[in-house]
Amino acid sequence: MHYAQHLEIQDKQLLKTLSYVNGQWLDSDKKVSVINPANGCEIAKVSNLGDHETAIAIKYAKAAWPIWSLKPAHERAQLLRAWFNLMMEHQDDLACLLTKEQGKPLNEAKGEIAYGASYIEWFAEEGKRVYGDIIPAPSDEKRLIVLKEPVGVVTAITPWNFPNAMIARKAAAALAAGCTFVVRPAIQTPLSALAMAELADRAGIPAGVFNVIVGDDAPSMGKVLTQHPEVAKFTFTGSTEIGKKLIAQCATTVKKVSMELGGDAPFIVFDDADVEAAVQGAIQSKYRNAGQTCVCTNRIYVQQNILQEFTDKYLLAVKELTIGNGMEEGVTIGPLISAEAVSKVDKLVKDSIDMGATLLVGGQVDKAGGNFYQPTVLSEVTNDMPIVQNEIFGPISPIIAFDSEEDAILMANDTEYGLAAYFYARDIGRVWRVAAKLAYGMIGINEGIISNAAAPFGGVKQSGNGREGSKYGLDDYLETKYLCMGGLTS
Ligand code: SIN
Repeated sequence: MHYAQHLEIQDKQLLKTLSYVNGQWLDSDKKVSVINPANGCEIAKVSNLGDHETAIAIKYAKAAWPIWSLKPAHERAQLLRAWFNLMMEHQDDLACLLTKEQGKPLNEAKGEIAYGASYIEWFAEEGKRVYGDIIPAPSDEKRLIVLKEPVGVVTAITPWNFPNAMIARKAAAALAAGCTFVVRPAIQTPLSALAMAELADRAGIPAGVFNVIVGDDAPSMGKVLTQHPEVAKFTFTGSTEIGKKLIAQCATTVKKVSMELGGDAPFIVFDDADVEAAVQGAIQSKYRNAGQTCVCTNRIYVQQNILQEFTDKYLLAVKELTIGNGMEEGVTIGPLISAEAVSKVDKLVKDSIDMGATLLVGGQVDKAGGNFYQPTVLSEVTNDMPIVQNEIFGPISPIIAFDSEEDAILMANDTEYGLAAYFYARDIGRVWRVAAKLAYGMIGINEGIISNAAAPFGGVKQSGNGREGSKYGLDDYLETKYLCMGGLTS
C-alpha cells in the first residue's frame, strides 16, 4: 500500500519506514505498525530492529565521533542551521505526520515542529560559545586551564508525547557540543523521528552523527543504549519508573546521565490573582496535548474565598474546548495515545468520585471514539486522592481548596516529583516567598506556558536531573578537562 498517498503530505520522501544508521536506511524482515490513535487505522509499517542493530548504530556513531568532534564549532553550526531551515520549510508536512501518529491537533503539531526546530537553531548558535577557563594558580610557576570537551557518543530514548521536539532538544545540544547521537524513538511515533533523519541527511550532517533506530523490544534495546561500553552519556525523557531502571543500568559503566522524568505540577491560584488570567493559564497548561505533557498542570489549588469565582469561569472555558480528530479544523483536544491510557485516566476519575470528589463536567469516553476522553473537572478533591498523587497524563482537572499560603505550599510540595509548578498572585512579597518555597525545577508565575529554547528545562527530586535547552543545556554533553601546566619559571 502507498501509505504516503493517504498521509496528505506534499513531500512524499518524508515518509520513511526504515531506520537511519550511518547515513543509510536499514531494513528488516520484521515490521511494526504505526497506528493513528484517532481512528485506529494503520498509517505505515516500519522496519523493526533490535539490540544487534542498536549496537551497530553505536559502533558507527563512535566511528563518526573523532571527525565530528574536531570540526570547528561554526561548521557544526552551519549544518545544524541547515537542518533547522529544512524543518521549518517542511513544517506542514512534519506536523501532518505528527498529528497522524500522535493525535495532537494540527495547529499544536505545527507548534511542536517550530518548538523542536527552535532548539536546533538555539544550539547551532550556543555551540560556538563553549568557553573554557583560566584559573589563578596558587604559585606563579603554574597555569591552571580548564577545557570543555564533547563527552563522546550519546544515546537517547525519547517519548511519544513530543515525537519531534524531545529528539530535537537532545540531539541539537549533543551535536552542537561535538557528540554523535543514537536515538530510539517511542515505538508509537517513529515517523516523526525518521522524517527528522531524512532532513538531517539533506542538511548534510555526516553519516554516523545522527542515527535513528526503531524497534519494539524496548528492554533489550534499552540495555544496549545504557550499557554499551562505547556510550559516554545516556539521556531519557519518560516516566520516573522507567527512568530509575535506566539509571541503574547506566551505573554498570558509570555513564553520564540526564533524565527528564515525570511531573505532578501544582497550579496555585491565590486570592490576589487576576482570576481571568489564571483561568487562561490553567487551561493552557492543563489541556495542551490533551494533558499528556510532563509539565501539564496535574492539580489546581484555589484559595477558598475565590473558589466559586474561579471554578465558574474555569468550567465555562473547559466547555469551550473541542474534542475530535486533530486533522479537523477547530479541534483543540485530540485522542489519548492508547486505550490503556484512557482506562488509566478513567479509573483515576472514578476512584476520585468514589472517594468524595464531585464531577462538574466530562468524566467519560467521548463519542468521538474509544481513545477520546472528555475534558473533565472534579471539585472537592483532597490531597490524599490518587489523582493528586499520580501523574494523570490526561485531560482531567482536579480542584482543591486551600485557606492559607502555608497550606498551599505544603500541599504543592507533598509529592516525590519536582518538575514544574505554577502560581498566580499579584502581591510582590508573596510572589518571591512562594517562588522560593516551591521545590520545583521550573515555576510559571502568572504564566501557564513556560517551555522555550532559551530556558533551562528540567526537574528536581524524582523528576530527574540535568537541564535541556538554554546555555545550561550544553553542560550535559561536555566534560571538564583541567590542565595544570608547571615549570613556567626559569
Ligand atoms: C514533556 O512533556 O516532556 C515536554 C514538555 C515541554 O517541552 O514543554
